[in-house]
Amino acid sequence: MKENFITLGIETSCDETSVSVVKDGRKILSNTIFSQIKQHQKFGGVVPEIASRQHLEAITHVAQKSVEDAGIDFDDVDLVAVTHGPGLVGALLVGVSYAKGLAYALEKPLVGVNHIEGHIFANFLESDFVPPFLCLVVSGGHSHLIYVNDYGDYELMGRTVDDAAGEAFDKIARALGLGYPGGPLIDKTARLGDESAISFPVAHFKEDNLSFSFSGLKSAVLNYLNHQKQKGLPIIVEDVAASFQKAVVDALVENTLKAARAKNVKTIALAGGVAANSRLRDELTNRAGGEFRIQFPPMILCTDNAAMIACAGYYRFFRGIKHDFTLNAHASLNLV
Ligand code: KG4
Ligand code: ZN
Repeated sequence: MKENFITLGIETSCDETSVSVVKDGRKILSNTIFSQIKQHQKFGGVVPEIASRQHLEAITHVAQKSVEDAGIDFDDVDLVAVTHGPGLVGALLVGVSYAKGLAYALEKPLVGVNHIEGHIFANFLESDFVPPFLCLVVSGGHSHLIYVNDYGDYELMGRTVDDAAGEAFDKIARALGLGYPGGPLIDKTARLGDESAISFPVAHFKEDNLSFSFSGLKSAVLNYLNHQKQKGLPIIVEDVAASFQKAVVDALVENTLKAARAKNVKTIALAGGVAANSRLRDELTNRAGGEFRIQFPPMILCTDNAAMIACAGYYRFFRGIKHDFTLNAHASLNLV
């Protein structure tokens, strides 16, 4: 492997336009993130058409700034890595097209990265963390339990059968009138509430089944809110947020520990936007006791960013993966 190998990562799968420059796969030289949250907030969620247009307007500026912040020139780039799925197809296409243009102009290799793999690789940035480990990937679109045996060697141990954890956070925050994106707002509001105030049900599967399900929980919270309103009873938003968050966290932690024991791993890693949740981090750390080491990326690397894509792209490239200019965007793209 060449020293001082520069990867330029590009991420546009949802509502963040991000470009990052990463040295030797793990050292972040810059990680520019342009969030579109303000543009989507008034609609209560991400509007795909607006997302694509915003990416298109931002991508050149974000890339320019990222290269400047890294103190390099475009010519110094050795590899262009871009998220090519899963995500919003129109949004992904902006990143993929830009990446192809850049790789072509610079005459440098191009590699497409799976967004979920990117989230897992956030754990390697600025760290000497290595596989094997079990990773709980929880974001707005995914809730996966993945055994990472080695770079590129993954086993899917469980996933959600309906809503993703982040999606549930966003929907309940909306129902509680907290706003968008819901995860951080529920996290904050829940700190002021009593998590044992309301007992919301968590879906349980058979002993060896590591699936998640959050749609029943979501309905239970919505039914509770309707019931309180119809009967003219008070709704203590802080208590609902805390009780809902506890139910999600319990389900996530329970299956994660089960999977870690089944695989006999020593380390459990968290990844994805919901990994920023303080209650999830605390509960997993407490319940892991001395049995497992718990690893999670800093908050800014949990939510969507291009540094994680550059990192995953670097390891893909040195595993012999590279793409030509037929690389396309895929709304659904499985990691395993
Ligand atoms: O990974 P991410 O930025 O985008 C996707 O790939 O989906 O994750 C965004 C999701 C949103 O649903 C957001 O509400 C959730 O992560 N999230 C959180 C927290 N911060 C972000 N959920 C719970 N607690 C948080 N602190
Ligand atoms: Zn993501």
